[in-house]
Amino acid sequence: MPVITSTAPGKIILFGEHAVVYGQPAIAVPINSLHAKATIRADIHGTPGQVRLSAHDVGLDDTLKNLSPNNPLAAALRGVLSALELDSSPSCIIRVTSTIPIAAGLGSSAAISVALIRGFSAFLGHPLPDEQVSDLAYSVEKIHHGTPSGIDNTVITYAKPVYYVRGEPISTLTIAKPFSLTIADTGIPSPTSITVGDVRRAWEAEPQRYERMFAKVGEITRSARNIIESGLPDRLGLLMDQNHELLVEMGVSSPELNSLVSTAKHAGALGAKLSGGGRGGNMIALVKPNLSEEIVQALREYGAVRTIFTRVGA
Ligand code: PMV
Repeated sequence: MPVITSTAPGKIILFGEHAVVYGQPAIAVPINSLHAKATIRADIHGTPGQVRLSAHDVGLDDTLKNLSPNNPLAAALRGVLSALELDSSPSCIIRVTSTIPIAAGLGSSAAISVALIRGFSAFLGHPLPDEQVSDLAYSVEKIHHGTPSGIDNTVITYAKPVYYVRGEPISTLTIAKPFSLTIADTGIPSPTSITVGDVRRAWEAEPQRYERMFAKVGEITRSARNIIESGLPDRLGLLMDQNHELLVEMGVSSPELNSLVSTAKHAGALGAKLSGGGRGGNMIALVKPNLSEEIVQALREYGAVRTIFTRVGA
């Protein structure tokens, strides 16, 4: 039996994080320079039916049988077996690797799920269609995040820019003119479930104030979509700044993120904001490629532990 290899990209949210959990639109794009990979090979000498799973990045090396229902990687594999109405799999060894930083808002958990679900279903002879891959990855995201909006599994499964509204059919986005982003990592891991939970409690305490902020983010995201589709991406900078201010007001930024945002702006970025759950993880800056080196240098001086340059729509 041939070795099956399946990959899935990272992602970054451009607009609409948090508000998307409450029904507002969000925009996210894949990052193809980062990826998760699942490699699956039949183990002809293995115990019949034994699935061995190793993911050294997260210190996992065990058999599927021994892994708890709450283990997200095991849940992805069990989800495939159940979708295919199978009780067991031929004996195999599954290796998972990823270049996507963990808990940094770059979609690492969803990318691992998508790579595993695609690879394992192909290994079993029934590659699942995208819609089912995305749905299964969503159910695994719930283990990580509690109440995820579904944006991560969607953008990563389809590997295309998406305009995402919870519960609505997928809508991909045409990038009329490519633009450049510098992504900078605070180096502070920040589990999304915590910030999502904090926003929920704050919304419960002050529903009107939070609803107003979510609605403003929704307007910003709709304008961003028009700008992206009409090929005037420089205008996204102002919208990124406005979206960041609202995220600060929601309580999900941090001194480190704010400092990287203002550093990028002072160094010439057209706009900048935190991306993803917040508190730690990454910020994104809209940059002119000719200024990107200076911006990267400034971000590094002010504490960014990693920067990634990406062309969106190129
Ligand atoms: O931290 P990330 O990139 O996985 O993004 C979380 C985005 C939120 O809107 C905060 C939560 C969600 O499920 O959409």
